[in-house]
Amino acid sequence: MSTEITWLGHSCYAVQTGKHALLIDPYLDESPTSPVKAAEVDADYILITHGHFDHVTDAVSIATRTGAIVVANFEICNWFQEQGIAADKVQMMNLGGSVELPFGRVKMTIAQHSSVLPDGVYGGSAGGYVLSLEEGNVYFAGDTGLFLDMKLIGMEGIELAVLPIGDCFTMGPEDSIQAIKMLSPTRVTPCHYNTWAPIDQNATAWADQVRSHTAANPVVLLPGEKIEL
Ligand code: NI
Ligand code: MN
Repeated sequence: MSTEITWLGHSCYAVQTGKHALLIDPYLDESPTSPVKAAEVDADYILITHGHFDHVTDAVSIATRTGAIVVANFEICNWFQEQGIAADKVQMMNLGGSVELPFGRVKMTIAQHSSVLPDGVYGGSAGGYVLSLEEGNVYFAGDTGLFLDMKLIGMEGIELAVLPIGDCFTMGPEDSIQAIKMLSPTRVTPCHYNTWAPIDQNATAWADQVRSHTAANPVVLLPGEKIEL
């Protein structure tokens, strides 16, 4: 069975490998664009890129209900334990490190961004993830500006890159084109846009730019739509 990646609005994705349900950056109940509520989603693993509210808000409730393992950096895993998540339900890691999990290898990549948890606790360094799944590598950049080390990430061979294009808080459409050139993914899909007015973007125009300036195939989803790997 193939892996399906569903956009749940903003930076939240559900990855269904057939055997395991993964959730990236759950922000559902208060998200203006999420097609589902936190009480409705399935999760065996919840991956958190950084501590900002629009990436962690529903993680504790979903982890508590499902018993999912929370994967995050050291500081954020400590915070989850303070929120009542058991020590054996967190997978600590940090930038540059990898862990082998039942669905594949997870590497935490750098991101150029800040990170503080909703209650003001320091969230460590912001990051992203490369998931090595059966069908290929998927790169979730997380919230980030453009950085030259994307070349190194691209050297791993990326089947699908998930990149922010909202601008203002992350890179915008123009810098994402530079990112795609360095990452050389087969496919690329945009996130972190059209949630609120400051990050409104025209994804159709972005896709045209991707087609004319890079070799990647752009995939623009509406919240609730999915990509098959
Ligand atoms: Ni952020
Ligand atoms: Mn964000």
